[in-house]
Amino acid sequence: TILILDFGGQYKDLIARRVRECSVYSEICPANISLEKIQKIKPIGIIFTGGPKSVYESNSPQCDPKLFELGIPILGICYGAQLMSYIFGGVVKPCQTSEYGQREIVIDPENPLFDGLEINQTVLMSHTDQIERLPEGFTGIAMSDSCKYAAIARPEKRLYGVQFHPEVELSTNGIKIIQNFLYRICGAAGDYSVEDYLNKQIAAVREQVGSEKVLLGLSGGVDSAVCAALLARAIPDRLICILVDHGLMRKDEGDSVEKAFSNMALRFVRVDASDRFLKKLEGVTDPEKKRKIIGSEFVDVFYEQAKKFGDAKFLAQGTIYPDVIESGTGSAATIKSHHNVGGLPKEIGFAGIIEPLRGLFKDEVRKLGIQLGLPVEIVNRQPFPGPGLAVRVIGEITRAKLDILREADAIFRYELESAGIRASQYFAVLTNLRSVGVMGDGRTYDYTIALRAVLTSDFMTCEYAPIPHELLSKISRRITNEVKGVNRIVYDITDKPPATIEWE
Ligand code: XMP
Repeated sequence: TILILDFGGQYKDLIARRVRECSVYSEICPANISLEKIQKIKPIGIIFTGGPKSVYESNSPQCDPKLFELGIPILGICYGAQLMSYIFGGVVKPCQTSEYGQREIVIDPENPLFDGLEINQTVLMSHTDQIERLPEGFTGIAMSDSCKYAAIARPEKRLYGVQFHPEVELSTNGIKIIQNFLYRICGAAGDYSVEDYLNKQIAAVREQVGSEKVLLGLSGGVDSAVCAALLARAIPDRLICILVDHGLMRKDEGDSVEKAFSNMALRFVRVDASDRFLKKLEGVTDPEKKRKIIGSEFVDVFYEQAKKFGDAKFLAQGTIYPDVIESGTGSAATIKSHHNVGGLPKEIGFAGIIEPLRGLFKDEVRKLGIQLGLPVEIVNRQPFPGPGLAVRVIGEITRAKLDILREADAIFRYELESAGIRASQYFAVLTNLRSVGVMGDGRTYDYTIALRAVLTSDFMTCEYAPIPHELLSKISRRITNEVKGVNRIVYDITDKPPATIEWE
C-alpha cells in the first residue's frame, strides 16, 4: 500500500489513481492520521498531497513529525514538499511571482526519482509559496527559472519533494516520476490489479456472509450493477436484487437491466411502483419537493420489499471509493443519495452491510464490470440522477409527459451515439413551455424539448458539447416527426456554472 496523506489538495484522487495505474494499491487518509494507524497499514511509501494553505500559517494542516522517523519513503507534492522542508527547518515563503501553468524545469538525471528522463522536462506548476532555503541534509534536484527548488531530496532517508504536480497529464513525464518513486525508491512489487481485488473480495464476502442470503437494491447504475455481478459470483443463488421501477426510468431501461442479469446466479425482483410514485408526485412542481417525495417513497417501497425477504441477513450496497473519501472517515457506511435507503439497515435489522466495491475508483469499477461479463451498455452507462426523469420534466409530472420525454430522449441518445459524438452526459428535457407551430395545414400548440449534452470529467463543472448543426437538424426533424406533442426543439448551450447539468 501507498498511503496518500490529504492536505486539502484538489488532486488527491488523481494521485491515488495514478499509483494504482502503476499496479500499486493506494489509500487516501487525513493528514493527521496517527502513527499507530500508519504502522497498522504498513505502507511501503507515503505521498503528501498539495493543499491551498501556507505551511507557516497557524491553522495549516500538519502531520505528525515522527512520521519521518518511521523509515518509510516519502514524496511530498507542492504543499507536501513545502511542509517537509518546513518541518526540517527550511524556509518557505510566498513566491515573487506565483507560477501557474506548464513550466520548463532542469532536473538532475542522476537522481533515482528522475531515472530515465531527459534533463529538460515540462511540468505543471501551481503555487504561490515556494521553498526559499533548504533544510539541512536536503539538496535541490530540479529547478526552473523562477523556482530554485522545483524538487528536493534527502536520499539516505528516502525523502523527496516536488514543487510541481507529477500526477496531472500536463506534466509530460509525471507518471514516470511517480513510477520511479514507487519502484526505484519504495521497492514496490507492482502486484495490484482489479483481478486481484476481485478475488480478495470474493473470499471476503464468502467469509462474512457464510451461508446467509444478501439483499441488494439495483438502480440500473454502474455501481450497483457491478456489485450485483460480483456478489452473484461470490455467493451464487443467495443474492436477491430488487429493482424499484418508479416509472421515471428512461425508455427500455428496466428491461435492459433485467436482461443484463438474466443469466447470472441471482434472484431478480422487479417492482412496478410507478402508480405510487406518480400519485405522490401529482401536482408537484417544485424541484426540491419532487426529490424529497421520490427519496422517501423509495425508502418505503424498498423497506416493504425487504421485509418480504426477511431471511436475508445482509444488505449489500454499491458504495465506491470516492463515496468513502467524501464521507471523510472511511468507516461509516455512506449511502449515496440516489440509493435513497439511508437509515434502512438498522430499522430492518440486517446483521451487516456488504460493500465489495468500497476500495475502487469508478474506472476500476467499470473494468471489473466488463470482467464480470456485464454488457458494455451497462458498464459505460452515463450518470443518471436518482429522481430519474422527474427532474427532466419541468413542472408537473404526468404519465403523458413522461412518455413524450422518453421517446424524444431515446431518439437523441440513439442519434448521438450512432454519430460517434462523445459527450459525458446527454439527454432530453421536456420544458414546460408550449408554443405555436404549424404541421400539415394545421396549427399546433405543443411542447418544446430541450437537448442537453455536456463534456466534463468531474460533473462539478461542464462545457456544453459542440454538436454539428447537420446532426442537430436531423435530430430535430426526427423528434418533431416521430414524437406526438412536440413541435419545437432547442439545444442548451450553457456551461456549468452558471447553469447546472440537469435543469432541475
Ligand atoms: P447538476 O445538475 O447538479 O448535476 O449539475 C451533476 C451531476 O449529478 C447528477 N444528479 C443527481 N444524481 N441524484 C443523483 O444521484 C440526484 O438527485 C441528482 N441530481 C443531479 C446529474 O445527472 C449530473 O451527472
